[in-house]
Amino acid sequence: MSNMAVDIAGIRMKNPVMTASGTYGFGREYGEYFDLSLLGGIVVKGLTLKPREGNKPPRIAETPAGILNSVGLQNPGVEYFLENELPFLRKHDVAVIANIAGNTEEEYCAMTEKLGASVDGIELNISCPNVKEGGVAFGTRPESVYRITQRVKACCKVPLIVKLSPNVTDIREIALSAEEGGADALSLINTLLGMAIDIRTRRPILSNIVGGLSGPAVKPVAVRMVWQVAQAVKIPIIGMGGITTWEDAVEFILAGADAVSVGTANFGNPFAPVEIAGGLKAYLEANEIGAIGDIKGKVMI
Ligand code: FUM
Repeated sequence: MSNMAVDIAGIRMKNPVMTASGTYGFGREYGEYFDLSLLGGIVVKGLTLKPREGNKPPRIAETPAGILNSVGLQNPGVEYFLENELPFLRKHDVAVIANIAGNTEEEYCAMTEKLGASVDGIELNISCPNVKEGGVAFGTRPESVYRITQRVKACCKVPLIVKLSPNVTDIREIALSAEEGGADALSLINTLLGMAIDIRTRRPILSNIVGGLSGPAVKPVAVRMVWQVAQAVKIPIIGMGGITTWEDAVEFILAGADAVSVGTANFGNPFAPVEIAGGLKAYLEANEIGAIGDIKGKVMI
C-alpha cells in the first residue's frame, strides 16, 4: 500500500490533493456530489475583512482550454465565514485553509487575527489580478512580498502559505522573498493576466477589461514556475494551474510540488479532485512507489 499522506509545514493531509481558492466556494455545492473528507484539503474562496460584491458582470469568459475571470473577490467577509461556513467544513475530515486578501497590510493582519487557530492554515493571497487596491499589488515586488509576509507571520497562529502570482519577471525572487519573510509554504500559480475581445462589438468581454486566465492553457507555465521555485526554496510547495487529470498532478509533483490544487477542472467535473487522488494512488501502486513524497522533484534533467 503506497502512502499518500503529506505534511505541508505542519498541515497534515491524508492525500496531496487540494482544491484551489475561488473554484470551490466554501465546499457546500461539491459536498452534494461526494464526501468532502475524501480530499486532502480545501482552500476556500478568498476572504476579505468586509463582504464584497465583486466586479460588475460579465466577469467570466471562456477561452481556448481555459477561463478568464475577473470576479473581484466576491465573498461574504471573514466574520460570516467563521460563523456560517466554517462549522459546515469542520464536519469533515479535511484540512481547511482560509485564503485571505486585503487592501492594506492592516487588513491582512486583522483577518489573520480573527481567524486565529480556527483553520488549519492561512493562504496569503497577494496575487489576485482583479482588484484595484491590494491583491497582486503586494505580490509583484520582492520588498513588498517580504514585508507583508513578515507582518502577517508575526500574528499568524497556523502555517502561513503565500500564494504567488505568475505575472512577474522572475518568480524565484518573489518566492525567496516570501520564504525570507517567514512563509511556511508557497502555493503557485495564481492566474495569468489576460484579455478577450468581442469582435462584433469591438469591446472587451470582461467588464473589468482584463482578467485572470486559468485552466489547461496555463499548465506548462505553472509546471515551469513550480520547477524553478522548487530549485530556489526549502519550504513546501503546493502546485496548481490547469490540473485536470492525475497525470497532470504527477507532472507537478515531479517538478517539485509537495501537494497539488485542482481549480478550474472542478467546474466541468466536480469529481475531478477525487478522481485525481484515486489516479495518483493507482499510479504509485502500479509503479511500486512507497510514498507520494518519493517522486517529489524527481524530474530527470
Ligand atoms: O477575482 C477574484 O476573485 C480572483 C481572485 C484570485 O485570483 O485570487
